[in-house]
Amino acid sequence: MTLSSINIPDEINRFPHSPAAAHLIDLANDRIEAFMLADDLVIENFVACDFHLLDQAITWIEQSHLLTGNHFCEFGSGFGVAALLASLRGMDSIGIEIESSLVEQSTSLAEELGLSAKFYCGSFVPRDITGILEIARDVEHVETHEGEVYEEIGLGLDDFDLFFAFPWPGEEQFFEAVFHAGAAVNSLLLSYRGRNGMHLLRKT
Ligand SMILES: C[S@@+](CC[C@H](N)C(=O)[O-])C[C@H]1O[C@@H](n2cnc3c(N)ncnc32)[C@H](O)[C@@H]1O
Repeated sequence: MTLSSINIPDEINRFPHSPAAAHLIDLANDRIEAFMLADDLVIENFVACDFHLLDQAITWIEQSHLLTGNHFCEFGSGFGVAALLASLRGMDSIGIEIESSLVEQSTSLAEELGLSAKFYCGSFVPRDITGILEIARDVEHVETHEGEVYEEIGLGLDDFDLFFAFPWPGEEQFFEAVFHAGAAVNSLLLSYRGRNGMHLLRKT
């Protein structure tokens, strides 16, 4: 099995946003700003991605008929905007986040917006990946020792059709290793790479 890259055209940044997606993004950005200003306890590993580009990338994936099913998972979901945007499109959507205060924030956004996305507190890193601690040796911004949550969710990595992640620079390969080891053949991993935009892989 291998990971094949799918080129996302630069023109997606001209795609319009639905009014509901635009509202979701504005609300989330307001909440994130308030959270960052109010919280004494800095969550060092949390930084939000470009939600407008994320919405455009999900639109492009959908319009290009690249999805093999309806299950969406956000690895390290923060405020859960990817999972919420997917839920807005009717996907069965979850987010996995290690920090309980962020799980609370994403859950209350989902409730407020009337979206069915669910957020789980724990680790997206499955325990049973051979050599995961070795792969994780240089990874600083992903918690690799906490317990996974797949049993609580009732789904495994191989039940999802589209994953989203925002890895810290240099840690992309760790997310790809988790995806490669556990995801179903033909599923997709969308990741945000800062200035390099969105990156899409299919497990083939
Ligand atoms: C760079 S932030 C991205 C947040 C969100 N996905 C976004 O794009 O706005 C990465 C998030 O992963 C979380 N995280 C780190 N290790 C984790 C793990 N093993 N399982 C779940 N979440 C984790 C951090 O707490 C942080 O909120």
